[in-house]
Amino acid sequence: MAEAAAMIPFIDLAAQRARLGQPLEDAILKVVRSGAYIMGPEIGQFEAELAAFGEAPFALSCGSGTEALVLPLMAWEIGPGDAVFCPAFTFAATAEAMPLVGASPVFVDVLPDTYNIDPAKLDAAIAAVKAEGKLTPKAVIAVDLFGQPADYPAIAAVCAKHGLKLIADSAQGFGCTLGGKHPLHWADVTTTSFFPAKPLGCYGDGGAVLCKDARLHDLLVSLRVHGQAVKSDLEGRTFDHDPKYLNMRVGMNSRMDTIQAAVLLQKLSIFADEIAARNRVAARYAQGLGDVVRVPPVIEGGVSVWAQYTVETDDRDGLAAHLRGEEIPSAVYYPVPLHQQAPYAHYPAPGGLPVTEAASAKVISLPMHAYLQPDVQDRIVTAIRNFVKKNG
Ligand SMILES: Cc1ncc(COP(=O)(O)O)c(C=O)c1O
Repeated sequence: MAEAAAMIPFIDLAAQRARLGQPLEDAILKVVRSGAYIMGPEIGQFEAELAAFGEAPFALSCGSGTEALVLPLMAWEIGPGDAVFCPAFTFAATAEAMPLVGASPVFVDVLPDTYNIDPAKLDAAIAAVKAEGKLTPKAVIAVDLFGQPADYPAIAAVCAKHGLKLIADSAQGFGCTLGGKHPLHWADVTTTSFFPAKPLGCYGDGGAVLCKDARLHDLLVSLRVHGQAVKSDLEGRTFDHDPKYLNMRVGMNSRMDTIQAAVLLQKLSIFADEIAARNRVAARYAQGLGDVVRVPPVIEGGVSVWAQYTVETDDRDGLAAHLRGEEIPSAVYYPVPLHQQAPYAHYPAPGGLPVTEAASAKVISLPMHAYLQPDVQDRIVTAIRNFVKKNG
């Protein structure tokens, strides 16, 4: 009798850890031995290297990708009565940031090919909210869903037309480019998450905000540590006490642990190579599956970091069960869009979200990581082809 095949990993963090080897463990131990657990030297070093990678004038590390979204909203004093436009076909954190500052998310439909926010529908949604006059449009959060860049030139033009700030929620897409440029080329800020399963992940929670404006960066530095006085608050002033405990605004504690920065410095050193490997895996999937399921198209001129490789099929549950039987994991991101979930159902979605609803009924994500070997990937492709042949 043939031996049962082992379950294929959905994301192979162990293979990455083996590649990084002893230097990764040494870097962690160095922090443990140094005692500089909070804001140790690795934090500044990582922020500098992250900014260089993302071609950003400034990068600020923080506690999570969720807080990375909240921090710029706080810096811009977005709050009650304000509208921030975002897709509903995304992880909850994208929309959650708005109620956390008292503002309202306004949901906009996505494009059927890339699942990223539809610029024409964005323009129409902003006009609808303005016409209604109940909320004041302030910002847009575009999401680089599953790793690929949103249509930033078109989205930025809509934001400029209406005078809105633009956040690129690149929690899944950090490292993606469009025409060779990172989303920050068009956006006011890019945010990301270092949740372990993200393309660039750490060994716990973490996030970052990248921006172009020095004053905004200074404000974010302040907000990350309880609104402490920062450079721009202190300039030209003298104090008869240590300004370290001078609080200028209400902030929060959103510091990243030094250990996570040490891990990320190691991971960043191989990230470009991993993005290239993910693109090779995506190309093999497209070649092996393009004639049997809908494989994901990438925006023209875009490079995805492939946080997920997501295909569409009418019998998603059947395919998932078939794959499970072959020891192949799969996942559905996202089966219930945010506008249909209880905490978000009362927020506006002008014009409805038909593309979002259709996509959420059909999508299924396959194993995707930089270490997926061709023979293992062949197993996945063959299993899908066999399922479609039998049921198609
Ligand atoms: C699109 C998107 N935005 C925001 C987040 C929030 O990141 P975190 O889990 O680090 O708070 C995530 C992932 O978790 C995400 O996928």
